[in-house]
Parts: sequence; C-alpha cells; structure tokens
Amino acid sequence: MYLVSVTVVTLSAVVALTSSEIFTSSLKVERMVMEEESLLGEFKSFIDQQYERLKTLSIFYSDRLREVRFRDDPGAREKLQHPNAVYLAITRYLHDYTSILGDRFGSFLNAATRSGKHFMAQEEDLVGARLSLLRLQSVYKMKAEDMARGDYLGFQGPPLSSKDAFEIGAVAYTEGKLNQSLDWLNASINLYNSNDNPTGPTPLVVTALMGRAYLLIGDLTRAEQIYEDVKELEPTCGDAKVLGEELRSRPAFTPTRPKANFVNFSRLCSLENRHHIPNPNNPRLVCRYRETLLPYYRFKEEILSVAPFVSVIYNVISDAEGDHLKGFVKNKLVRGKIGSGKPIVSDVRTSDLSWIRDYESDLASSISKRIEYITGLDTSQRHPYGPSSSEAFQVVNYGLGGHYEVHMDPLETVSSHSELKNSGERIATFLIYLSDVQRGGSTVFTRAGIAVAPVKNMALFWYNFNPAHQKDQMTLHGGCPVLIGQKWICNKWIWTYGNTLRRRCGLTPEATQLDIEPDMKRGYK
Ligand SMILES: *[C@@H]1O[C@H](CO)[C@@H](O)[C@H](O)[C@H]1NC(C)=O
Ligand SMILES: *[C@@H]1O[C@H](CO)[C@@H](O)[C@H](O)[C@H]1NC(C)=O
Ligand SMILES: *[C@@H]1O[C@H](CO)[C@@H](O)[C@H](O)[C@H]1NC(C)=O
Repeated sequence: MYLVSVTVVTLSAVVALTSSEIFTSSLKVERMVMEEESLLGEFKSFIDQQYERLKTLSIFYSDRLREVRFRDDPGAREKLQHPNAVYLAITRYLHDYTSILGDRFGSFLNAATRSGKHFMAQEEDLVGARLSLLRLQSVYKMKAEDMARGDYLGFQGPPLSSKDAFEIGAVAYTEGKLNQSLDWLNASINLYNSNDNPTGPTPLVVTALMGRAYLLIGDLTRAEQIYEDVKELEPTCGDAKVLGEELRSRPAFTPTRPKANFVNFSRLCSLENRHHIPNPNNPRLVCRYRETLLPYYRFKEEILSVAPFVSVIYNVISDAEGDHLKGFVKNKLVRGKIGSGKPIVSDVRTSDLSWIRDYESDLASSISKRIEYITGLDTSQRHPYGPSSSEAFQVVNYGLGGHYEVHMDPLETVSSHSELKNSGERIATFLIYLSDVQRGGSTVFTRAGIAVAPVKNMALFWYNFNPAHQKDQMTLHGGCPVLIGQKWICNKWIWTYGNTLRRRCGLTPEATQLDIEPDMKRGYK
C-alpha cells in the first residue's frame, strides 16, 4: 500500500513539471497518449508484482500465526525446553523476518512493542544463543557431533543443519575457543557430507576456517596442508585468502586460560540431579526438623556442610505461592546485570530478573516473615530508604544455557553502595527454587565441593560470614547452565542491620554455626 501511493505522487509530479510544452502540438498529444499506454503497462506489471508480494506476505503471515498459536500449546512448550529447539526457533525467526521484511523489520518491531521492551529475538540474541550452546558444551563436556544430532546427554531434541554447525564453529573461532571451533566445523563437514540437501558453506570452505584455527593453536603442519587444498578457492573464499596471509604473517595468539575454578565448576555441575555433600561421613551432618521461632512450625532440613554452614530446607513455600511470585514479575523481567555502581549486562550472568519489596505484595511480606521464623534472623524492610534487615526478593528466570559464574554474594567493598552504609553486608542468603529443572541448573560451591540440584519450593540457605564475622571464601558459588528445562529462583539476602544481636560471634575463633545455634535459638538470654 505504502509503495503504491508513493509512486502515484511521483507520476503526477512528472506530469506537472513538463505540462507547459505538451499542448504546443497535436503530435505531442498523440505521442503522449501512446506513452501513457506503455506507462500503464509498466504500472500494471508493478501492480502484479505488488499482488505477488502481498500474496507472499500473507502466506508468511498465516504460517507464522499458525506457529505462534501452536507454540502456545503445552506440548509445544515442552518441546521448546531443548536447547536446539530454542536455537532453531531464534534463527528461523530472525532469518525469516529479515529476509521477508528487510530493513522494515526494525520499524515493525518498534511499532509492535510500544513499551520499548523487546522480547522477540534480535541479532545479538543469536550470537548469545550460540555462546550458550558453547557454554553448555564446555561445562557438560559434550561433543559437537552429538549436540548437532540433538543428543544432549541423552535428552533428544531436533537436529541442527551443517550451516548451523558452521555458524556456531565460527563464533567459537572469534571467541578464541579453538578446540570447540574445530569440533563444530568438523561436525559441519560431516553433516554436509551425510545430507542430500546440505545447507551452508561447502566442506572445503569450512576447512579453510579450520586451517586458521589450527594455525592459532600452533599446528603449523596441518594449517599448511589445508592451505594447499583450499588455495584454489581464492579469492572467492575469504578464509582461504586470510589463511594464506596468516601463514605468512603468523599472528600471535594468547589462549585464554580457563578460570581456576572452572574444573571444579564443570565437575560439580555434571553430577546427576542430586545434592552432593562434600564429606558425607561427618557425624554432624544431619537431617532434622528445623524448629522455628514458632514452636509448632517445623521444616525438614538437610545440613550439607557445617563450615561454611549450608543447608537445604524443603517446602518453604507452596506451589501457589511460587506461581504468585513468578506472576508478579512476569512483565517486569529485565536482563540481569552484575556489579555495583554502574552495573553492566554481561555474559557472566545470563538471566532475567526483577524485584519484589515487602510493601508491594502481602505474599512477599508473609514469606519474608516466614524466613525470619525459619532462620531466626531479622528480615524486616523499613520503607522506603531507611536501613533494612533484608533485601527485596529478587526473582530470576534463566533461559537457554542460563548460568551465573562463580561469585560471592557480599557486595564487595564499594563505599558508594548505600546499603553497605545503612544496612551492612549480606550475611546470609536464602535462595528459594521456584521450579524443578530437568537437567542442569544446580547451585554449586566450587571450593566447598557442594552441589545442590534445584527442587521446587526448596530453599538453599547459607551464611556468607562465619561466626567470627569474617567473609567466608568457602561460599564461592555459581549457577550451572540450564541444560534442559527452565529455572526460576527467588533470592532473599539478609543483612547485618538488626541481626548483630541475633547472631553473635562464637566463643572461640573455630566456632561453627552449629556451636552458636543453641544460643541464637534461645535469644542469648
Ligand atoms: C585443546 O585440545 C588440546 C588437544 O586435545 C589440549 O591439549 C588443550 O588443552 C585443549 N585446550 C583447551 C583450552 O581446552
Ligand atoms: C572429524 O569427524 C570425523 C567423523 O566423525 C572423525 O573421524 C574425525 O576424527 C574428526 N576430526 C577431528 C579433527 O575432530
Ligand atoms: C576444587 O575442589 C577441591 C576439592 O574439593 C578443592 O580442594 C580445591 O580448593 C578446589 N579448587 C578451587 C579453585 O576452588
């Protein structure tokens, strides 16, 4: 519609400009009639083209609509829990819309999402999705070949194409993950050769990029061999050309060393879905009924570690309460940021989150109170900006490969952080799982050797400071990437303010939480 009206305006403008000469001879008038006839012919074919285009757009429209409706089906949603399914949904979506709408995709998207929030995938989501698959691969030690076939540790999903495998391998290359890059590029070649209708670059073109990866990891012989094979592709294949140049210039490459705690992180994340305690023979590790401030109110607790004190407490909320918390934030989730001061969106933490203050929700306030009963620690919030004894609930949703790298919860020593001044530090963490996770998504303590698999409505409770009130380095922990399913959690951080007299230092420097607990319970009377 838009195009047609623009063209009409242009036509009348042309007529207006030249009209002064036209009526000076009858011959010109005749010619004009002829000209107009052929012009109308052009116009007709333009209209036909527009009809064709509208037909294509309508077909695309109804196809997408059918898919969107279908996706709402519970069965389809179940299928979207597999990383390959999510990846394919993002690529197909982006590719289809940009190829049919071109540059106009952006303005459609803006008009559709007036709130300014984009939930729909964009180009950076695609790179993010590829990085997520690479992260899953390295943490759970999977082969590209298996992942491409849709086999994630036995969880079967849709297969990827040779083109997908190539693009993932290319992202791995630019990120300096060369082993993974070679693995995916090789998988891409195998897929290409075993498919009757292969997509993406031919094996020879893929090999050129493999040559560049071999060169960077120092396998000069292999890189040179590959160059002999691919140099015939020059200059049509960029990677073949660059490989030739790089063989002459020998670019330097410093491999990024894996983080010190990655080995432990990967090992703990890969354990099956159960809680793993570091020293199961310690007689002080027990299951017990955790008594609360209210004598009749008890919760099943398993102590996973005494120092640092880490335990899990079952059924601290009901399904309905969990649903309510999720529902409360559903339209407010934003990409999680890290760091204090000027927070940045980063690959360290891939999740969406939102906050619920006690005064915003009766349910939040009652769960805060319940946490106070369970832990014996003050959790009251003094609205709006006064010192508080606990932070608002932080509700977090992790998506494809969503994870949180190893970190500690205390707010570091940022003097500008107002909470630090007013409310002290995050002395304890009360993390409630709002969902089960089919596979992956455990919370792991890389130093202490603890792994906790999510169980819906269960809380993971630990002290970030030992009873001598020293920041406990053993509480370094991280969130494993979600392999299958989705992960919802809700954090409550309990602050020093209001708790200095509720949790006092132990009588000896070695005192553990279990040593001071009886006094805490008695209220130090
Ligand atoms: C890559 O693979 C090689 C050979 O298998 C191995 O020696 C090297 O440590 C690997 N590098 C990384 C970063 O995993
Ligand atoms: C590439 O894949 C083939 C077929 O699976 C395998 O035999 C070969 O070892 C792989 N090569 C590399 C370098 O990974
Ligand atoms: C890894 O785990 C072992 C055994 O639990 C522990 O001794 C070591 O300190 C851990 N390493 C790091 C870097 O956390």
